[in-house]
Amino acid sequence: MTDPLPSPLTYRAVTYRHNATPPEVTTVSVDIFDTKRTSTALPLKDDSTMLIEVHAAALNPVDIVLMTATPRIAGAWRKGVGRDFSGRVVRAGARVTAERGFRAGDSVMGMYALPLGNGTVAEYLHMNPFWHGSVTKFDPAKLSYEQAAAWPLAGGTAYMSVFDHVRIDGWTPAGGSHPDRAVLVLGAGTAVGRFVVQIARAVLGVGAVVAVCSGASAAELRELGATHTVDYTAVKPGQSYASDVRALGFKYDLIVDCVGGYDILSSPAAGTTIYDFIKPKAEGSAYVTLIGDAKGVYRSRPALVNVSWCKLRQLASRVGLVGYTYALILTEPRRDWAQAFGEWLEAGKIRVDIDSVRDMAEIQAAIDHLATNRARGKVVLRVRK
Ligand SMILES: NC(=O)c1ccc[n+]([C@@H]2O[C@H](COP(=O)([O-])OP(=O)(O)OC[C@H]3O[C@@H](n4cnc5c(N)ncnc54)[C@H](OP(=O)(O)O)[C@@H]3O)[C@@H](O)[C@H]2O)c1
Repeated sequence: MTDPLPSPLTYRAVTYRHNATPPEVTTVSVDIFDTKRTSTALPLKDDSTMLIEVHAAALNPVDIVLMTATPRIAGAWRKGVGRDFSGRVVRAGARVTAERGFRAGDSVMGMYALPLGNGTVAEYLHMNPFWHGSVTKFDPAKLSYEQAAAWPLAGGTAYMSVFDHVRIDGWTPAGGSHPDRAVLVLGAGTAVGRFVVQIARAVLGVGAVVAVCSGASAAELRELGATHTVDYTAVKPGQSYASDVRALGFKYDLIVDCVGGYDILSSPAAGTTIYDFIKPKAEGSAYVTLIGDAKGVYRSRPALVNVSWCKLRQLASRVGLVGYTYALILTEPRRDWAQAFGEWLEAGKIRVDIDSVRDMAEIQAAIDHLATNRARGKVVLRVRK
């Protein structure tokens, strides 16, 4: 019997060259099997890697940001698209099986983070799970491949936002009950915001979870656990939603900004500053942003000035020059969040909202839709039927 997978392995993948070329389905060829070793199933050359047949992938704004930011001078090689994936292991190196327990046949999901390298919108993903630590097994009877692909980057970001900077007894992924605590989520209708709301309520049992979202998303956010909603679209010109948030009268243990902006930090229109909203630093509170002071625009180059300014404020907060804990999150593919999320999802504690599922060949339509900034949950691509 010969190996059903030929060497070199050839497969279809969505790739692009630079910001003036569209992403398209192309044929990729990789030389990953050790053909010198005789076996019916050719082993991988590198024992620390595994080969996954991808079933579904999901897009994130960072995919669009990266494509937009790749200049023509980077045009020599084709770059993949996508960070999130789910699929089935078809080969696992000996070290991967011994140390991480992955074997051929396992259903896996995770975040693959190699900017300007391969992407997950591809029929196969050859990866090193020691570098891409968020890969985890799941049970396809409990979670569909589309759902499994639709959470990693956004879910990991939500996890890091909730747990990495707050210092409160019992505020851990193991779960708890915090009826006297309050969380404010700005841009709660985003994929990340939806997860933040759910973690706050379903995992931590936070008493007040305030979601700033459009009126169109308010009912969904309440279903996910928000106790109060503030409609940012109902604000009159020259005013700020900060007034409506202040009117609720809470002081927050955690504020997560999933959309970018300055209104809660300081709003002349509302006559408020961050100290009107956040509990004292000594009580372990934190303000966490995913973007910074300006609203995230997906089809734009990363605003390095904005990021540098936020990092400076984070440093100032660490050394005590700013009276509250401030942090800019940069998501990393970590094992802790992957394992916790896997358990929450399979237990039905957290749900994954999917905006739409398209075939891989419809990549441009999927990107255009995500870029509208109006997706209601994750934009998923089906790679295998
Ligand atoms: N730093 C990091 O490592 C990191 C990681 C992940 C994501 N991010 C960033 O986080 C942001 C969110 O990503 P995502 O994938 O979760 O977004 P997304 O799902 O694409 O967000 C779409 C949603 O945003 C909401 N929205 C649009 N404009 C808004 C506004 N002005 N105020 C409040 N809500 C608004 C809309 O809901 P409504 O109906 O409520 O308007 C819409 O449904 C992006 O900018 C992304 O680049 C950063």
